[in-house]
Amino acid sequence: GKPAQGRTAGTAEIQTNKRGSIDTNPPRGTRDFFPQDMRLRNWLFDHFRSVSSAFGFEEFDSPVLESEDLFVRKAGEDITDQLYNFEDKGGRRVALRPELTPSLARMVLSKGKGLLLPAKWFAVGQCWRYERTTRGRRREHYQWNMDIIGVEGQEAEAELLAAITMFFERVGLGPEDVQIRISSRKVLEGVLRRYNVPVESFGPVCVVVDKIDKLPEQEVVRQLSNLGLDSEAVNGVLSATEARSMPELQELLGSDSEAVKEMVNLFGLADGYGIKDWLTLDTSVVRGLAYYTGIVFEAIDRRGMLRAICGGGRYDRIMGTFGGDNLPCAGFGFGDAVIVELLKDKGHLPDLDHQVDDVVVALDESLRPQASGLANSLRKTGRTVDLVLEEKKMKWIFRHAERLSAKRLVIVGATEWERGCVRVKQLAKREESDVPVQQLCSVSSDEAFE
Ligand code: HAM
Repeated sequence: GKPAQGRTAGTAEIQTNKRGSIDTNPPRGTRDFFPQDMRLRNWLFDHFRSVSSAFGFEEFDSPVLESEDLFVRKAGEDITDQLYNFEDKGGRRVALRPELTPSLARMVLSKGKGLLLPAKWFAVGQCWRYERTTRGRRREHYQWNMDIIGVEGQEAEAELLAAITMFFERVGLGPEDVQIRISSRKVLEGVLRRYNVPVESFGPVCVVVDKIDKLPEQEVVRQLSNLGLDSEAVNGVLSATEARSMPELQELLGSDSEAVKEMVNLFGLADGYGIKDWLTLDTSVVRGLAYYTGIVFEAIDRRGMLRAICGGGRYDRIMGTFGGDNLPCAGFGFGDAVIVELLKDKGHLPDLDHQVDDVVVALDESLRPQASGLANSLRKTGRTVDLVLEEKKMKWIFRHAERLSAKRLVIVGATEWERGCVRVKQLAKREESDVPVQQLCSVSSDEAFE
């Protein structure tokens, strides 16, 4: 058909059919949240928030739109290629945030010495990445982040891992469902030092190594060679990703290497939290973001069917890359999409119906003001009330009250009203009685006539 009005050809056109109506789908890779989807999203975010609070974290937020500069890094990360970036009407280069960490770093920098450390911050925000869409990967997603700023030791990472496992437990998942794989970028750092690879190559090498599972080995080798690694160094890097246990790691690096010491410390702390069953050492984990400097981790579905559920680690040099003084930082990002797929597969999605306490209805039009006054009085006592706004048949009203799982149906009729009463049907008990309006509205919702 013809392009819709007001749209220039060549850019994304709103598709219309013959009658000129729009395509009702949201843009590819994005989601609408209908009320039922919103109930699930709120349920999930409530867990994100309550776990963060349980750990004493404070919530922050930042704009979805940021200066493009904040996300421009030259390490070859997917995230920079997937940027939703454009020029605004003032000629500024801007981008939709693909993650929250650079914004957090910007905010921390802006506070300078005024920020009390350590800071424990969390956020739940929408992020945008122009990805190839797959199951659990979209062009927008919400990400729960917890970050600790100002703590050098693995106590920070251990605390973050404990929060993640607490979340999993609260949504009904156990270590038999999910595994958290842990490594340290210091493993690769040590290997690169051994082969005299320049420090600037560290980030880019990590980005390539992260793709080992996704790319053919030849391609990984080619990309590592392009970064200036000779074949010995390439082999060193590849074999460094093979350790799956502490003894293997010790054999690889020697037991007094920093990476080994940190890992031993972390697993000791994890034991203290009682979360060791969830964790496993795996040096193939490097994560795809250039800024990580130490411990890195990701949670995966044990069946291996989905992409990472969450990912994070230590990033002690991000402030320096933004022109500030470095500060030790560790955190994670936890998306809202993969976890929902996993909960769906496991049958752990909650039943979340739309529910109100009361349905209030006027039996005839002249009683509408009385009914709305009553509804409002009930709302002021703390009850949730659906007021029927139109003339409806009794049959419809009963079905409606049932659909809303209402506890009571409150009927305003002329005869009862004259006596200062309304008819109250307790729907579960199938009982009904006339109740004085004054009494109905003076009772707190827990002791109500239900
Ligand atoms: P990330 O590994 O790029 O890390 O993403 C973290 C999580 O966000 C992923 O494990 C996944 O759950 C979710 N996610 C990412 N991209 C998508 C997508 N396209 N669709 C759905 N979910 C997605 C970061 O973003 C770091 N900033 C995390 C962090 C915070 N590290 C330290 N602090």
